[in-house]
Amino acid sequence: MPRAELLLRWYDRHRRVLPWRALPGETPDPYRVWLSEIMLQQTTVKAVGPYFLKFIDRWPNVTHMAAASLDDVLRMWAGLGYYSRARNLYACAVAVAREHGGAFPDSEEGLRELPGIGPYTAAAIAAIAFGRQTMPVDGNIERVVSRLYAVEDELPKAKPEIQRLATTLLGTSRAGDSAQALMDLGATICTPKKPACALCPLNDNCLARIRGEQETFPRKAPKKTGALRRGAAFIVMRGDEVLVRTRPEKGLLGGMTEVPGSDWLVAHDETIARAQAPAVKGLARWHRKTGTVTHVFTHFPLELSVYVGKVASRTKAPHGMRWVKIATLKDEALPNVMRKVIAHGLGEK
Ligand code: ADE
Repeated sequence: MPRAELLLRWYDRHRRVLPWRALPGETPDPYRVWLSEIMLQQTTVKAVGPYFLKFIDRWPNVTHMAAASLDDVLRMWAGLGYYSRARNLYACAVAVAREHGGAFPDSEEGLRELPGIGPYTAAAIAAIAFGRQTMPVDGNIERVVSRLYAVEDELPKAKPEIQRLATTLLGTSRAGDSAQALMDLGATICTPKKPACALCPLNDNCLARIRGEQETFPRKAPKKTGALRRGAAFIVMRGDEVLVRTRPEKGLLGGMTEVPGSDWLVAHDETIARAQAPAVKGLARWHRKTGTVTHVFTHFPLELSVYVGKVASRTKAPHGMRWVKIATLKDEALPNVMRKVIAHGLGEK
């Protein structure tokens, strides 16, 4: 039996039930497919589940989302990370509502013109929502295909070859199911470590397995993680309120809420960082918390020292900053690193 056929047969028996997937026989909803693909771009299936349901509940279609505000979308997104995705999500909803009458374009090319939709996501939506004969290749699919064909070139050089080989795994119809079959195979069987080859529908065809070298694919150049950056974060309390500001729109955690802080530098100097504390009238002294907060971003690990200061009620916030009640912080677009900083700052010691 052809590989594409083996794969679809396996999918029909073992597909994962995921909130954004149409059930067999149901027509996929492009809005749900799009929303899930954007959320899944840098986040795991497990983490996305509750967010996806929360979004669908609040905005059941793209027109509803387009009628919301960017702030609403960012707040709902808080905790998912990579906030430029949320900004693009909203821009895309607005574009689809205003320029396409609320209907997503049904071709890869049309989809690619929308904000936040790159080649992978365009292929995924085109295949899953519209049955177009195209194969989106994500990390899971790269792994499956590089093993199946024992692709010797290292990533990223091997990408075009993997794309070509992956496309040969499309059946004559059901492109979306072929793609999702490979995704599921990669997530549940053809895992990075200790793949469950005995359960794999393609095990007889798999060149890496025949050689007993499954785990060595895909070949990769050793990865360089960024150097440790350090900085200081400043928590100013005014009764039950804390001083916050909004990060610039562009760049890391763009548009999210944070407590004021120093630059984050590899060549960190605590004295220089401390001098970047916000100038709040009447703040007599800073108390440095014992220990540090650590967080790992994609491109670098971060270590923050945390300082706490108190000011009297009615103290004015410095320019560009504002007071937020601790109890309403949950409604802010507060990234995880800032949740950690505040928990550390307000904890004992
Ligand atoms: N990762 C990205 N898109 C996915 C999908 N449609 N199903 C499962 N995992 C995915």
